[in-house]
Amino acid sequence: MKIIGTGSAHPKCAVTNEMLEKFLDTSDEWITERTGIKERCVISSEKLEDLAVRAANQALENAGMTAADIDFIICSNVVNEYVTPALSCIIQGKLGATCPTVDINAACAGFVFAMDIAEDKLKCKKAKNILIVCAEEPSRMVSWQNRSTCVLFGDGAGAAVVTEGDELKAIRLTTSSLTEVLYYQRALEPTPYIDKEENFEPLVMKGREVFKHAVTNSCRDIRKLLNETGLNANDIKYYVLHQANRRIIDSIRNFLGVDEEKVPHNVERYGNISSAALPALLDELNRGGKLQKGDKLVFSAFGAGFTTAACVIEWAK
Ligand code: UT7
Repeated sequence: MKIIGTGSAHPKCAVTNEMLEKFLDTSDEWITERTGIKERCVISSEKLEDLAVRAANQALENAGMTAADIDFIICSNVVNEYVTPALSCIIQGKLGATCPTVDINAACAGFVFAMDIAEDKLKCKKAKNILIVCAEEPSRMVSWQNRSTCVLFGDGAGAAVVTEGDELKAIRLTTSSLTEVLYYQRALEPTPYIDKEENFEPLVMKGREVFKHAVTNSCRDIRKLLNETGLNANDIKYYVLHQANRRIIDSIRNFLGVDEEKVPHNVERYGNISSAALPALLDELNRGGKLQKGDKLVFSAFGAGFTTAACVIEWAK
């Protein structure tokens, strides 16, 4: 496969650390020092599907295509207002596409999981042009009374159009069931027959454990991929890493021994927007004129599950 178009969209409501200080026992100093985040955009009047459609339309335009050219849509999403239908069905209708669609949930690693599925579809000739849309609203999973979680997340969407090509050089996905370090359980409808104990609570995260897993696993994935492709760390133009915490990004960079300019970040402006982080950052690089044909890029992300996913691609545009 190759990526031929990118897009992104963020909600209009930007919440600064100072705004959080007004109702939480926190400070700009703590959040900046521990996470690098200065502000995040959160959904107010927008619908998540509308952000997704904005990002998707940008990606289509960037690819020189219309919705009619797309023959499969993969939406990566953890939570949205609908349990059913899948968000991808809603996006399909709003885009005016007619192809089949599917939602996946690999948490923050969803973009690379979607790339892997897309690659398989392209390889077995079941599709020619695939739209990947990552749309996330983690601000609706956290308790806004819990300073340990709500300061970390933002909402947003990122999209990419992929087509047949030889530019995906290597990819690696992992899942290791480790559910207690990061989860969110929401209430289902009661029935007259339920007699089991149920537990519904806003996002629970063991931050330090997640931090360690993130750095260890991301470094492991990237090293394996570099080894597999015969590339060394400095052959890579950019490491597009999950934007959860500036300290996680810096730790991965230090372990890999690569220069700062190879590891772009926007976590300071958007916080952690889950699986939308990678395509949104890629879109920034693309639109900022930072990518040239032939550039080697590494993507690496991790999330609840615990899932990790990484790949090496060559920029094709
Ligand atoms: O997409 C994957 C999702 N998640 C992640 O990638 C998150 C990974 N983890 C992290 O980014 C970091 O572990 C955090 C940013 C969540 C926390 O940073 P930390 O340096 O690991 O801090 P900590 O959890 O060890 O907490 C240190 C202290 C605690 O106080 P005590 O117990 O030492 O008195 C917390 O209560 O900082 C306190 N604290 C806060 N203080 C002010 C936690 N959140 C805040 C806050 N403002 N917002």
